[in-house]
Amino acid sequence: MRVFVSVMRLRVFGSRIWCLRFVLFLAFVCSEVGYGAAQTDSQDYAALSALTKDWGNLPSSWTGGDPCGSKWEGITCINSHISSITLSSVGVTGKLSGDLASLSDLETLDLSYNKELTGSLPSTIGKLSKLTNLILLGCGFSGPIPDSIGSLSQLVYLSLNSNKFTGSVPASIGNLKKLYWLDLSDNQLSGSIPVSDGTTPGLDLLLDTKHFHFGMNRLSGSIPSSLFSADMTMIHALFDNNNLTGSIPSTIALVQTLEAIRFDRNSLNGTLPSNLNELTHVNELVLSNNAFTGPVPNLTDMSNLNYLDMSNNSFEATNVSQWLTTLQSLTTVMMERTGLEGQLPVEFFSIPQLQTVVMKGNQLSGELDIGSTYSRQLELIDLQSNSIDAVTVPPGYNFTLVLADNPLCGGATFPYCNNQQDLGSPYTTPVFCVPPKCSSGQTSSPTCKCAHPYTGTLIFRAPSFSASGNPKYFTDLQQSLLSSFASLKLPVDSVSLSDVATDAFGYLNMHLAIFPAGPASFNKTGVLSLGFVLSNQTYKPSKEYGPYVFIADIYTNGASPRSKSSSGVIIGAAVGGSVLVLLLICAGGYACYQKRRAEKAKQQTNSFVSWEKQQTDLGLPHMKGARYFSFKELQKCTNNFSEDNNIGAGGYGKVYKGTLEDNQIVAIKRSQEGSMQGTKEFKNEIELLSRVHHKNLVKLVGFCCEQGEQMLVYEFVSKGTLTESLSGKNGIQLDWIRRLMITLGAARGLHYLHELADPPIIHRDIKSTNILLDERLNAKVADFGLSKLFGDTEKGHMTTQVKGTMGYLDPEYFMTNQVTEKSDVFSFGVVMMEMVTARMPIHKGKYVVKEIKTTIDRTKDLYNLEVLMDPVLLTTTTLLVGLEKFVDLALKCVEEAGVDRPTMGELVKEIENIVKLAGLNPNLESASVAYSGYEGVSGEDVHIPYTNDYILR
Ligand SMILES: *[C@@H]1O[C@H](CO)[C@@H](O)[C@H](O)[C@H]1NC(C)=O
Repeated sequence: MRVFVSVMRLRVFGSRIWCLRFVLFLAFVCSEVGYGAAQTDSQDYAALSALTKDWGNLPSSWTGGDPCGSKWEGITCINSHISSITLSSVGVTGKLSGDLASLSDLETLDLSYNKELTGSLPSTIGKLSKLTNLILLGCGFSGPIPDSIGSLSQLVYLSLNSNKFTGSVPASIGNLKKLYWLDLSDNQLSGSIPVSDGTTPGLDLLLDTKHFHFGMNRLSGSIPSSLFSADMTMIHALFDNNNLTGSIPSTIALVQTLEAIRFDRNSLNGTLPSNLNELTHVNELVLSNNAFTGPVPNLTDMSNLNYLDMSNNSFEATNVSQWLTTLQSLTTVMMERTGLEGQLPVEFFSIPQLQTVVMKGNQLSGELDIGSTYSRQLELIDLQSNSIDAVTVPPGYNFTLVLADNPLCGGATFPYCNNQQDLGSPYTTPVFCVPPKCSSGQTSSPTCKCAHPYTGTLIFRAPSFSASGNPKYFTDLQQSLLSSFASLKLPVDSVSLSDVATDAFGYLNMHLAIFPAGPASFNKTGVLSLGFVLSNQTYKPSKEYGPYVFIADIYTNGASPRSKSSSGVIIGAAVGGSVLVLLLICAGGYACYQKRRAEKAKQQTNSFVSWEKQQTDLGLPHMKGARYFSFKELQKCTNNFSEDNNIGAGGYGKVYKGTLEDNQIVAIKRSQEGSMQGTKEFKNEIELLSRVHHKNLVKLVGFCCEQGEQMLVYEFVSKGTLTESLSGKNGIQLDWIRRLMITLGAARGLHYLHELADPPIIHRDIKSTNILLDERLNAKVADFGLSKLFGDTEKGHMTTQVKGTMGYLDPEYFMTNQVTEKSDVFSFGVVMMEMVTARMPIHKGKYVVKEIKTTIDRTKDLYNLEVLMDPVLLTTTTLLVGLEKFVDLALKCVEEAGVDRPTMGELVKEIENIVKLAGLNPNLESASVAYSGYEGVSGEDVHIPYTNDYILR
């Protein structure tokens, strides 16, 4: 049809005969390549062909068919437009051309780990107005980072690390209001850290950016004091391994959210700000290898500090013994050549998790007493070159002690007087089977199978620990990797870690190998998915590991990498070329049409004036019950959005509790600047949400759209989230009966959204924190429609395309990007498992779905699940009627394929049956099923009736 349209236009220019011929020609050629043009938008197809014309090692599926229609590996589409290209670690070669800019709907571009993708970034990249994730980590790009990068207003995740970029850090990055992750480390960037000055933007404007990763560059100049402010939410400030000069500004203490700070290996000087002490959330503080002077500051209040490195500075003589022992979270104290003097107190070695103490080259004196209650995690105490004149070593100690070059050694030959001591060997994944002999290229896995693993270097830039031999950290890491892969249904058999070592930049490196399940190698889809999970930080280890980066090796599938111009690529390029010419002709007219349509749409949405003005042209939403609030009204009822009224935060912004004039208590979601959308879209969404009414859904009371603010006003649900109640922390204890009723309520709410709301609504983020309980413990599903209403900047580790939360996420949705009601059913199944276990879905590195599947034994009582069950269920006197049926149902919800899962309607019926089986009336409210053993809840406003009237039998 598109072809037909353009022919109609051409008619103006030529005779009828010419046109007829042209139509025949088109009919012929288009039928030849017709398949290709069938589903992908022609402009996108042309842009993709031009972009990849000179690329080598493209997946073989890219040589024929249609990118959207025939599922090219690494391409996903929305409505025939290419929305994501993920091509990590397959060895793509070539350059990135300006044709990229024509992929107007592109949201995700992940080309990570392709070292032979070289050249510079085209400045037209700034035209990708929908781009949310730009991941070029570990490629071979060079030249400056174009200023136009600051035009990517939707960008959430920017990862340009480990390339060869030169020039300065573009100040325009400060315009990226939605940015969550900023990683420019390991490049050759120079110049100073840009901050705003009223006319030009700067990094100080990035109030919602959590990650500032700038290590391993050539940045110079001083650290601007205006870089830091109390409005920032930065957690990782990594500026290590640069050429920064001057001192650390005391404004850094304003950023109370900071968790990891690295300014080591620069040329900084001056006295350290004494208010560093106020940064009480910091876990890692690394300031070594600079020229700081003055005293080592008193860090007493940094009670969460795990890793402290102040080595190799020019501090004046300081006695730290008074405050060092107050830091009871310390694992690592690196204070080589820091002017320490005095005697180390014996209590210091009893800090429970202490692992490494390096204080060589100081003036520590007196007797060294390690005591008998020293930390059993100790691996190394290195105090060489001090003035210690006696030592008491605990009997049978198994850490490394280095005391060489102290007076006590004199000419003595105690083992600890040797400075060439063996350190324990670092962790390597153990193998408990007999490794087979593998053919060349293959490696034996930890489960003793020969395979081609997906490999690379896992780098922790600021870990909280230093014990490279303590298996705890590494087995947990392996477990959490496996659980994440399992929860995403990636075909992984096992993982192994080896070569654990700290490098010259102060990073903890290790080799990671991921082995395939089933066949001996991963297919392309497997490789691209693994690459993306790690390059996009979809996988998140627990906090103690700090920020990580993974640099994958190119996956060669055992065969040597294909040569650059394999025949497949030549054919692909040739076909691509002719298709290009043709499609450019075909697309011409259509493109004009599209452009005009787009411009018209832009005019409509860009006119972001105040709501009052819009009323005339757009009209107020047709509301059923939801009302319009003025900004003033909401400001007043929340005490000017005071911190005391702040009851939560999410990707869209903050939630405030407020009391309206009629004394109704409400929860107000106030979107932060970056996550707002056009007034018209906002209006449409409210209109939709205001039509949704169900007792198991949180009710929308109203909204505000004024003074550049977008706020939603909801009924206040007093007992908080299901997660809190399951944890027992808020004083509520949920017995089995109540859990059944809550599950039923939540299922009904969701059923309404799926099957009764018009248009149907897919929640996309079902989890226990989105199920609220009212004072009668009725379930109310919250945040429906929000994934569409607000950009989800909080979960920057997820692609913003795939909405949802790790552990609850439907793997089918993750792989295909196609969201259906069945994705909610999957997440709901995980919530049901949470009801039984009272554990978060990924708990201590274990994925609840897998745990239940491997533990279940249907021949035993309670299906043999006691070990996984919430102990509260096992200790209360209630019979666990229907528990087995409940588990069966939950397992059906998490079936691999969506089609095998029940619909919400079917699920509601099944849960009603279980409720009846337990002798209850499914139509009673949750709280009225209270009975003996109920402990009550805190707060006087709640009255839970004590009644047995629900019993049917
Ligand atoms: C360190 O600071 C804390 C308060 O932050 C104070 O109580 C303590 O006396 C100080 N210690 C030293 C040795 O100055």
